[in-house]
Amino acid sequence: MVHSNGDIPLTNGGVAATNGTKSTNGMPLASQSLNVTLKDKVIAITGANQGIGLALAEACLANAASRVYSLDIKDPGKEFLELQSKHPGALEHIKVDVTNQAEVESSLDAIVEATHRLDGLVANAGITAHKSALDFSQAEVERLWKINVMGTWNCATAAARMFLKLNTKGSIVMTASMASYGANKASMLIGSQTVPSTPYSATKAAIRSMAKTMAMEWADHSIRVNSVSPGFILTELSYHVRDAPDWDTKMKYWRGMPRLALPQELGGAYVYLLSDSASYTTGIDIPVAGSVGAW
Ligand SMILES: NC(=O)c1ccc[n+]([C@@H]2O[C@H](COP(=O)([O-])OP(=O)(O)OC[C@H]3O[C@@H](n4cnc5c(N)ncnc54)[C@H](O)[C@@H]3O)[C@@H](O)[C@H]2O)c1
Repeated sequence: MVHSNGDIPLTNGGVAATNGTKSTNGMPLASQSLNVTLKDKVIAITGANQGIGLALAEACLANAASRVYSLDIKDPGKEFLELQSKHPGALEHIKVDVTNQAEVESSLDAIVEATHRLDGLVANAGITAHKSALDFSQAEVERLWKINVMGTWNCATAAARMFLKLNTKGSIVMTASMASYGANKASMLIGSQTVPSTPYSATKAAIRSMAKTMAMEWADHSIRVNSVSPGFILTELSYHVRDAPDWDTKMKYWRGMPRLALPQELGGAYVYLLSDSASYTTGIDIPVAGSVGAW
């Protein structure tokens, strides 16, 4: 049977475009792989010079992305250069401050000029600060909001504009946090100096909400927007967990997995959301948190 729009239904329920290259209705192409893969895709990841972002770059490259760009305010360090040397020509760095909209836009222009495509953007760069809410100055709270929320906003809107220009069914993935779901129990003050971060949690809740709303706005264009909420991941940013003498006790009490995750353990969730396997997945959050999400 040929649909009224000229497309041919696949045996698996999908619809192949008759010209084999372009779907007229947002349906997957007949040529779409059933493997979860980033084959041929060009992915930009903010804050990928270290920590979670760098591990995501590693995961994208391991899953056949053709080029990964780190958009990071810092210069590349030893770990980034090591990964780069394992993937000659496939991992690049562009110096970008995500709070600067013009810098974000020109970095995406440079990627498209070099590769003629952009398939996915991970808005991952972020910072934290931990102390009692009453001890934060307005300037400190504004800095957290500027980098975490406005940085994510700048990157997501710039990517969506680029996807529209390129007529690409692009994927945007934001790094939220389990802290977006509620107060971060495990870093509460229980006889130690650690405290949750009220402004950080609020920025992450804003990001999760932004992903859902943008997903609705851009669904008509087949631009997908999702988020991932990591739990406790072993990076520079989680110093407040590592340094807490009672963290193990708290984890046993709350029945969380009694360890921090390696950043690489997040890779599968991001790779899935960036891949064509997720062509009908938009507006969701995936918690990767070692049972913390079950609290
Ligand atoms: N580590 C955790 O346990 C954890 C848990 C939940 C969520 N997260 C989130 O994961 C993301 C990555 O965190 P991480 O743990 O890898 O931290 P990290 O400090 O190791 O890495 C953050 C990266 O972002 C970059 N960055 C900071 N400000 C920037 C700016 N203005 N412009 C461009 N780049 C900038 C830094 O240079 C750095 O490379 C953050 O959004 C963080 O909130 C982390």
